[in-house]
Formats: sequence, structure tokens, C-alpha cells
Amino acid sequence: MTITFVGHGYVGLVTACVFADFGNKVWVVGHTPEKIERLKKGDPLIYEPELRELLVKNLKAKRLLFTLDFDQAVPEADIVFITVGTPTGKDGEADLKAVFDVAQKIAPHLKKGTTVVSCKSTVPVGTNKKVEQLINQNKANEARVLIASCPEFLREGTAVADTFHPDRVVIGSDSPEALKLLLALHKPLKSEPVVTDLASAELIKYAANSMLATKVSFANFISLYCEKTGADVETVLDAVGLDKRIGRVFLNPGVGYGGSCLPKDVVALIHTGKALGLDASFLEAVDAVNDLAKDNFYRKIIEHAPGKQLAVWGLSFKPETDDIRYSPAIYIIEKLLEKGFSITAYDPVAMDNVKRVIGDKIKYVSEPYEALKAADALCVFTEWNEFKAIDLNKVKKELKKPVIFDGRNIYQLSALKKLGFTYFGVGRSL
Ligand code: UGA
Repeated sequence: MTITFVGHGYVGLVTACVFADFGNKVWVVGHTPEKIERLKKGDPLIYEPELRELLVKNLKAKRLLFTLDFDQAVPEADIVFITVGTPTGKDGEADLKAVFDVAQKIAPHLKKGTTVVSCKSTVPVGTNKKVEQLINQNKANEARVLIASCPEFLREGTAVADTFHPDRVVIGSDSPEALKLLLALHKPLKSEPVVTDLASAELIKYAANSMLATKVSFANFISLYCEKTGADVETVLDAVGLDKRIGRVFLNPGVGYGGSCLPKDVVALIHTGKALGLDASFLEAVDAVNDLAKDNFYRKIIEHAPGKQLAVWGLSFKPETDDIRYSPAIYIIEKLLEKGFSITAYDPVAMDNVKRVIGDKIKYVSEPYEALKAADALCVFTEWNEFKAIDLNKVKKELKKPVIFDGRNIYQLSALKKLGFTYFGVGRSL
């Protein structure tokens, strides 16, 4: 099959590489010449484990092609996936400008005969129907378009593995012909496909991300109870999670959820829910608890830090990515700077992106221990493996005061106690 992706962010690029790896011919369309040139040379533009190798492999095999030109990539496509961003608009709604723009741009280039067009970007119910209308208004008479929705569930940091081994593949369309083609495309994936109507497929993605956000906010809410009562949040949630109906995954308390997906999708679902006349207070509470988690940790630092010089480990919104969009670390750092704190930070891959956002307002160092020199306390915001396996003896030696603010509960309380640390975790204490 020939597949065309418009957009080369996390979803577009990773999925394009995986479908190319299965032997399809895959075009990827972008609109920034410099980025397309870098992609053609095998530079994935983002840090994502295994992605560079997969990109290079499929470029070499000439199955993966990058272009700026719709006329080159669209006419031979059997399926066109729209994979552009849907950021948060000014009232919390999903901003669909880029999606509709792409729909208009691809329409005149569709071949004579049938092409399936599907959004892989996360879009509210009804968006694919609007895409269909826009294409029909702008296409040539001989072109026939069938619309489908194939939401993507990959996570940053494990995007390649998730795409090769998804928990489920959701394919929604009101056209049996489109469903047949998409089922054939996804056949090499071993997971059971969920075949639905268009609207259900669109909603599944929002429901899934909102459920994940709900679990995290629930864990963070319980951690606040623990801090008031002396209960230990890890013990509580371990026991709660033993119930198979609940499970322990995605119940890790911390400094709040971030990234370009959970925060954006929760507020978009609140927005569309309200537009439909629904009371969205359930999801508003999920969102509010997330703010509470970030602010609670920030307050802990300003109340208990023994001085104004802080070492920070972890800047990305989660480990194994350089993505800092809606990163709780950046939110808290900016508030600490306003309060007059000085910060020396280390992150394995996200520092270049942080420099572009907050520049030299903080200092950056190239290895974790260096950040500790002359620091009054250590703050951990992201649970990179290298921070978990750190030598706590050395941490104690380097810090001016043995104080740790552990925003991801990664350290063992017994070890910290033995070494005489003062420790502030999330929902637990020494
Ligand atoms: C999320 C979903 O997990 C994917 O299934 C979805 O495809 C993707 O959004 C998307 O819509 O494109 P992602 O944003 O990459 O993926 O990251 P997650 O692993 O979901 O983590 C989100 C945030 O929640 C992170 O800040 C993480 O630190 C936080 N989190 C996660 C917790 O605080 N506690 C947990 O137990 C789990």
C-alpha cells in the first residue's frame, strides 16, 4: 500500500516509520524546508528511543520519503493520515485549524478513484465529518474520499515499542470499504482491532486519556490525605492496586501530569462536554487536582528549603523524552525563580529545549552530581533511571544540607533515614 502522513510530530513520524517497516511505501509531508531536509538525512528531530534507527533503516530501504509537496505525496496514496497538532485553543477547546487546513490542501491532489482519509491526531467527535465536507468541497470530481478515524495511543518515551505492540487498534468508519482497507494495513500488528463507527472512535481517544488523567489525579488526591494524616501513599496505593478491578498501573503520585496530551485532552473534553450541555465538573476536578499537585510540591519547597540555591534533576514531563510541553518541572521552576531561588539543573536530554524557553535564568550542568555543588537542597522532578540508581552517600557529601524534595517518590525511605537525610516526598515521609 502507499500511505501518506501529513505532519511529522511524535504520532506522524513514529507511525510512518512503523508502517514503512512493514513494507508499505510511505510519504511524509511537512511544511518547514529545514526540518524536511534533516528528516531526509535520518535526523528524527525529537529524542525518542529506537526512532533514529528505524528512520534510517526505512530511508535506506527507500520505503520512507519526505517532501514539502502535496502533489508529490497525495496522488498515489491509498490512505492519507492527518497527523498535525491539535493544541489547546483560548477557551480550552482543541484548536483544529491545522487539521482543516490540511484537509483543504490535500483535496485537490487526491487521485481519480478512492482514497481513505483519516485523522490520527486527537480530534473531537464530528471533526472527521468536517474534514470530509471540506475535502468534498475542494476535490476534483473524479476523486472519491472515504473518511475514517484511527486514533493513536502511543506514549512518548516508548512510542516505537507502543506502535509495534499496541494494546488495541481502533478503526472507526461508517464505510465498510474504508474499514476493510484499514484493517488490511493494520494486520501485521498482533493486537485485536476494535472496529467502530466514526464518532465512537473519536471519543475513545479522549475517554482513554481522561481516564489516565483521572487515575493520576486520584493518586495525587490520596497523597494529600496521606500528608495530612501520616499515612504512607505508596503503601495505600499498593494495597488498593492489588484489587484486580483497579490495578496499580498509572496510580503513581507525583508533581502532576504534564505533556502535550493529558492536560490538553482533559480540558478539550470539558469544553466539548459543556458545549453539549453536560455538567463537566467531574473532569474539572481532575484538572484542578493536577494543579493542586504541582502547587503543593512548590509550596513544600518554599516552606522547607534551607536556603535559596537549589539543584534540580529532571526537566522533561516524564522520563525518556526531551519534551517539556506542560512539564510540571518548568511550571515549578518558574515559580521558584519568582521567589528568588537560584537553580542549577540537569536533565539527560531535555536541557536544550529548556534553554529555548527559559534561557539563562537557570544554570545547566552536564552531569547530575555537578548540580549539587553548593546547593542547599535537591529537587527531583522527573524519574529518569539514572536518578534512581544514584549514590546517595555522594549526594549527601556534595549538598550543603542533606535535604531532598522527591517529586516522584523514587528513593527508599530506609536508605534516606540511615544516611540522615531530611526528606520531602509526595504523600509519604521518613
Ligand atoms: C499519553 C497516553 O498515555 C497515550 O496513550 C496517548 O497516546 C498520548 O498521551 C497521546 O494522546 O498522544 P504521554 O503524554 O506520552 O501519553 O505520557 P503518559 O505516559 O501518559 O504520561 C503523562 C503524564 O502523567 C506524565 O507527566 C507522567 O509523569 C504522569 N504520570 C503518569 C504520573 O504522574 N503518574 C502515573 O502513574 C503515570
